[in-house]
Amino acid sequence: MSSQRQETVRRLAAPDIAARKGGEPIVCLTAYTAPMAEILDAHCDLLLVGDSVGMVVHGLPNTVGVTLDMMILHGQAVMRTARRAMVVIDMPFGSYEGAPEEAYANAARVMKETGAQAVKVESGPTVVDTIEYLVKRGIPVMGHVGLRPQSVLVDGGFKAKGKANDERVRILEEAKATARAGAFAVVVEGVAEGLAREITDAIAAPTIGIGASAGCDGQILVTDDMLGLFDWTPKFVRRYGDLRRQIDAAVGAYAEDVRARRFPGPAEIYFAKAANT
Ligand code: KIV
Repeated sequence: MSSQRQETVRRLAAPDIAARKGGEPIVCLTAYTAPMAEILDAHCDLLLVGDSVGMVVHGLPNTVGVTLDMMILHGQAVMRTARRAMVVIDMPFGSYEGAPEEAYANAARVMKETGAQAVKVESGPTVVDTIEYLVKRGIPVMGHVGLRPQSVLVDGGFKAKGKANDERVRILEEAKATARAGAFAVVVEGVAEGLAREITDAIAAPTIGIGASAGCDGQILVTDDMLGLFDWTPKFVRRYGDLRRQIDAAVGAYAEDVRARRFPGPAEIYFAKAANT
C-alpha cells in the first residue's frame, strides 16, 4: 500500500456559494483552459466556463455559434486543474430553451462528462420552469438576467439593460422568478447600480455582478478582458494586466532573435559540450 497521502481539498459547491449571500463577496472569473484554471483556482470561489469562450478563444462574433461539445471540451480542461473553486458550465444557445426534458438531457450530459458542479442558463420567462425542472432533478443551476448575450441577435447588440421603467421591472421580476425556481445564484449583467441593488435586496440567492456595480454579492469578469488581452474592453472592465502588450513584445523579441540567429544559443541545445554530436 502506498504511503503517499493524496492531499484533499474540499471543492466549493452550490450550497457554499448560496450561503455567502450578504457575506464576504464571491470572487468569480471565467476559465476555459487547464493552465489558466490552475492559476485562477488559487484566488477564486467560482470559475465559470462561459460560452464567451466562443468569442474569446474561437474568434466567433457572438455566443450564438457555441455548441454543447465545445462547452464540454473546455469544461473537462478546467476540471482537470481546478481543485477548490466551484466550476459552473454555461449551457449554450439552443441547448435548454426548448422542452425541459431536452434541457435536462443536455445538462445531465454536461454534468456527467465534465464533473462540474452546476450549469448556468440565461433566464427569461420561458426558462424559469426549466430551471425548476433541472434543480428538482439534482442539477444545480445558476441564472443570468439583465443583458443576456445569447439574445444579441434579437437585441441588435450588447446593450445595457433596465434604463426604461418597464424593462427595469421586467428584469427585477425575472430575477425573482429565477431565484424562486431554485437557482443557487444569479448573474446580473449590464444594469445600473440601483437595479442591481434592488435585485440583490429582493432575492435570497446571491447576485454575481458583471457591469452591474458593487451592489451585488459577488463579481465576475471575463478573465481575458481583465488581463488586457484585447485592444478594446467594455467600460465596466478594470484591466489588472497588460498581457496583449507583453505577448506582443515577447513574440517580437523571439522573432528578431530567430532572424538574427541569436536563438537558440549554446544553453538552449542538447549535448552542447560533446564534440560533433
Ligand atoms: O459567458 C460568460 O463569460 C458569461 C459572463 C457572466 C462572464 O456568461
